[in-house]
Amino acid sequence: MIKKAFIFDLDGVVVDTAKFHFVAWQNLASSLDINFTEEENEQLKGVSRVRSLEKILEWGNKKIDKETFEQKLIQKNEEYLKMVETLDQKDILPGVYDFLIHLKKQDQPIALGSASKNARPILKKLGILNMFDAIVDGTDVSKAKPDPEVFLNACKLLNMPSENAIVFEDSIAGIQAANIAGMISIGLGEEKNLSEADEVFRSFLDMPADYQHQLLNKTK
Ligand code: BG6
Ligand code: MG
Repeated sequence: MIKKAFIFDLDGVVVDTAKFHFVAWQNLASSLDINFTEEENEQLKGVSRVRSLEKILEWGNKKIDKETFEQKLIQKNEEYLKMVETLDQKDILPGVYDFLIHLKKQDQPIALGSASKNARPILKKLGILNMFDAIVDGTDVSKAKPDPEVFLNACKLLNMPSENAIVFEDSIAGIQAANIAGMISIGLGEEKNLSEADEVFRSFLDMPADYQHQLLNKTK
């Protein structure tokens, strides 16, 4: 059987946490009197916590001192983690669990490639931490998506060449990272946001029945 490196982003791909990030950033922006739109939020997907706050401040044309910046980051994460507390297995996005089980049965290498520093506790909470053969998250990388470091590191840990990697992403930055690395990029979300992806599905449930098989023979 052909082996591929199956690399999953976390927020908005494996679990429905993208909405929590949005709410927490929106509240933070409004605490600084900054108007923050859904379109702007799209550009924060896949982007690190620090860079996200920098961008919100740039868009709002606001400057804050270093100490306030750090406080705001803590405030955002605390609010986010309160929402994460409510997560359980039903928040795993539709079709993801079955897809992972299917890959496991075929003994396909599976990795997580996420910008989040909260990735491990979230996967643990969902009861799927041990389904991943490798985890690369925001605590492991120095360069954020669209830099491909996170996905290249995942391939290294899986002992797989990067040209054999298939990346599942809901963010523009993540799709760009996969493309830069020469990996197959599969977008999960809306075509209008993810037009740079090799293919886009609204969810894992929308993939054709034999799609997992097709992926094994797919080349960039
Ligand atoms: C990404 C999310 O997965 O992780 C971003 O798409 C988020 O919205 C980033 O800012 C960092 O996450 P965390 O959990 O470390 O704040
Ligand atoms: Mg994401």
